[in-house]
Amino acid sequence: MGKLEIRNLSKAFPREDGSSLVVLDNISLEVQDKEFVCILGSSGCGKTTLLRMIAGLDSAESGSIVLDGEKMKGTDARVGMVFQEYSLFPWRSVIDNIAFGLEMQGMTKDDRYRLAERYLKLVNLTQFRDSYPSELSGGMRQRVAVARALALDPVLLLMDEPFGALDAQTRNMLQKELLEIWEATKKTVVFITHSVDEAVFLSDRIIVLTPRPGRICQVFPVDLSRPRDRTSPAFAQVRREVLDLINLNCSIQ
Ligand SMILES: Nc1ncnc2c1ncn2[C@@H]1O[C@H](COP(=O)(O)OP(=O)(O)OP(=O)(O)O)[C@@H](O)[C@H]1O
Ligand SMILES: [Mg+2]
Repeated sequence: MGKLEIRNLSKAFPREDGSSLVVLDNISLEVQDKEFVCILGSSGCGKTTLLRMIAGLDSAESGSIVLDGEKMKGTDARVGMVFQEYSLFPWRSVIDNIAFGLEMQGMTKDDRYRLAERYLKLVNLTQFRDSYPSELSGGMRQRVAVARALALDPVLLLMDEPFGALDAQTRNMLQKELLEIWEATKKTVVFITHSVDEAVFLSDRIIVLTPRPGRICQVFPVDLSRPRDRTSPAFAQVRREVLDLINLNCSIQ
């Protein structure tokens, strides 16, 4: 299970002068169980805010967020999140970072290591079990963050530009790995990105937001079969169509 329903969600932040900054304006969207959705939008349009609200880290101004028929209030064990910036605990080893949430749940050391080791293997980091985040590359750190989120077995995985800071080659490799993990674990994924290429490669559906205040501008199903080949003419054509639509309707540069 993992069906997400967002209805008429809006959010504003108070400004110093007493006025308010409207960041999200009446967002409604449904994400189906096991669907991989990418949300595309320009910087500052409210993507992180939207994800934080789904994760229960920010409250909504109005509207509702429902997961599997149950209205969400605050943080929820059914939801995992991978953040935009590296967010590992520097004083914990890789295995202890992955096991963090399990430890918080009160799981015994043996049990949580057994589970964490499974996810360590899934993200291809077995050799780095006892390393510390400072000893890892950016790509490896994000793999640990993915493993940490998955270890809690969420039905919904939220990812906020997890590969945005990586070089193109590492980014492409992690996209492939993520799809393999998604095929194996079949989570519902909401993945935020700036990159049309990344969105076409990863998702079943692309949702494009307008510049702030973020509104839904376009919804674009990606009907390419998997595994996708980003050098194929079919891939290039979908990328072109998405870019044209965005330029025409959503005023994103
Ligand atoms: N806690 C906050 N208080 C006040 N304003 C905020 C807060 N969080 C975000 N904002 C503002 O809301 C707007 C949207 O921010 P958000 O981080 O959601 O954008 P984003 O789409 O994720 O951008 P980026 O692509 O650069 O990550 C920005 O103008 C930001 O300054
Ligand atoms: Mg952001």
